[in-house]
Amino acid sequence: RSAGIVGAPFCKGQSRGGVEDGPERIRAAGLQRRLQQLGCAVKDYGNLTFEDMSPDEPMGLLKSVRAVGAANQKLSEAVRAVKEDGHTAVMLGGDHSLAIGSIHGHSAAVGELSVVWVDAHADINTPLTTYTGNIHGQPVSYLLHELRSKVPVLPNFSWLKPCVSAADVVFIGLRDVDPAEHYILKMLGVKTFSMSEVDQLGVARVMEETCDYLSARGKKPIHLSYDIDAIDPSVAPATGTPVVGGLTYREGVYITEHLCQTGLLSAVDLVEVNPLRGQTEEDVRSTVSTAVDLLLGCFGRVREGNHLPDYRLP
Ligand code: ARG
Ligand code: MN
Ligand code: MN
Ligand code: MN
Repeated sequence: RSAGIVGAPFCKGQSRGGVEDGPERIRAAGLQRRLQQLGCAVKDYGNLTFEDMSPDEPMGLLKSVRAVGAANQKLSEAVRAVKEDGHTAVMLGGDHSLAIGSIHGHSAAVGELSVVWVDAHADINTPLTTYTGNIHGQPVSYLLHELRSKVPVLPNFSWLKPCVSAADVVFIGLRDVDPAEHYILKMLGVKTFSMSEVDQLGVARVMEETCDYLSARGKKPIHLSYDIDAIDPSVAPATGTPVVGGLTYREGVYITEHLCQTGLLSAVDLVEVNPLRGQTEEDVRSTVSTAVDLLLGCFGRVREGNHLPDYRLP
């Protein structure tokens, strides 16, 4: 197993500065070294650089359309290259608008995907239903075949073709869903495990049902798009849109352990870590450290302990 890390220090899918520092903070917490200790080979492709697109006038409510379009086109190429080099792709955000490019590039390299979207939010607003105008609340609508006619072609988005079917997506952790998003999820019959279902079924059954549901449609490579705000703000407070009542640290990590052991995990996004949103340095440390643990879970770390295959007792 090997990880190909791409940093995407991009924040214009939402309006709070600081989320562009996510990649450096997560790296500084020792991500590469700790993956290597697990026996995972790591190639760090470094951070992408994004052009300043100004003037980038809002289109109606929609903010920074050209910057988001251009950044995602670049990210799509980068993730595609990581997959073509044979790695499991790790995209460090940045805000969740980056899932557009990450999932598109992943799909360009490997074909049809299953998507597991772990988030307090559904991020399935369209450019016409959004009332914040933030594209980080919309990436899923840009990616779904079924919503093609509901998403107008936007400047710097002409490269993007929908590449995911609604039946190949599972949401976990939802607890702040806008009315239009709820309507879309019901209309398309998307599989969702809100926090109510996590409470009702427990995380183990949620993951079992998630994997049964996805594998019934064929064992496609899995794209895990993990928004750190899925985790409860008591554990991961340094994020732009925290919502009470989230996943515990243990539930959050369990999701990654379970997906890892399917052997199908092919790309992971870890987004919305915003070091400027913590009240204290401890808030930031706890958020970043949780992000790292989620990524380690994706690459085989288990809580019973690990040792390398060539380990010899001294
Ligand atoms: N539903 C809200 C919106 O569309 C919040 C989205 C939050 N998304 C996120 N990736 N944190 O703006
Ligand atoms: Mn900024
Ligand atoms: Mn979210
Ligand atoms: Mn999100």
